[in-house]
Amino acid sequence: MTGVRAVQVPVLAIDGPSGSGKGTVSTTVARKLGWHYLDSGAIYRVLAHLALTRNVGTDDVPGLVALTRQLDIDFTEDGVRLNGELVGDVIRTEEAGVRASHVSRIPEVRRSLLAWQRSRARPPGLVSDGRDMGSVVFPDAFCKIFLTASSEKSAERRYNQLREKGFDVNIAKLLREIAERDERDATRKVSPLKPAEDAVLIDTSDMDADEVVSRVMEEVKKRL
Ligand code: DC
Repeated sequence: MTGVRAVQVPVLAIDGPSGSGKGTVSTTVARKLGWHYLDSGAIYRVLAHLALTRNVGTDDVPGLVALTRQLDIDFTEDGVRLNGELVGDVIRTEEAGVRASHVSRIPEVRRSLLAWQRSRARPPGLVSDGRDMGSVVFPDAFCKIFLTASSEKSAERRYNQLREKGFDVNIAKLLREIAERDERDATRKVSPLKPAEDAVLIDTSDMDADEVVSRVMEEVKKRL
């Protein structure tokens, strides 16, 4: 015993399927609180992107695990950096999301990324978004939110996000890809997409981003 107790860093976990509004809400809440932000989906997206550029298959377990050990990711104001270089929007396409969903099914990959994700919990606090933030990565999070939205609304949001980034998207194809991705994420054996038992569920279908942010801030303030 050193007599020094580890400082408990408050973690707000925001999970949910694709298009539920997690990213926008999490970054806004993190800014309001002045806390760090962890976009866990970006880690799987960057890993899948790196695998593609290095010719490592999405089912090559040892190859992917080796890549997780070389991942030097940083989230900066101007975007995600890999080994100091801005990755840019290549990881934001729906195809990149689908590849990320494939590599994220592998238990060894998830295990290898666990400690790094947890190390992001630094004072004064962390807002983390993903699929298993409240259920697996940060089970002690002081506040857990699970956002949902109707499939039409999710597809519409993703459509607008992708169009804003200048991507050419077909709404019918997107609707299908998102449904398949969510199904894959929700039915995998490890860390499936599902609310933690103590998560607050918020259906964002009929809410705009500001309303969801206010709702999440209410839950945070109740607990802080
Ligand atoms: O949140 P996103 O759309 O950027 O995530 C891309 C994929 O990464 C998602 O379909 C599944 C995977 N993912 C995951 O398995 N666990 C997380 N905590 C975050 C994302």
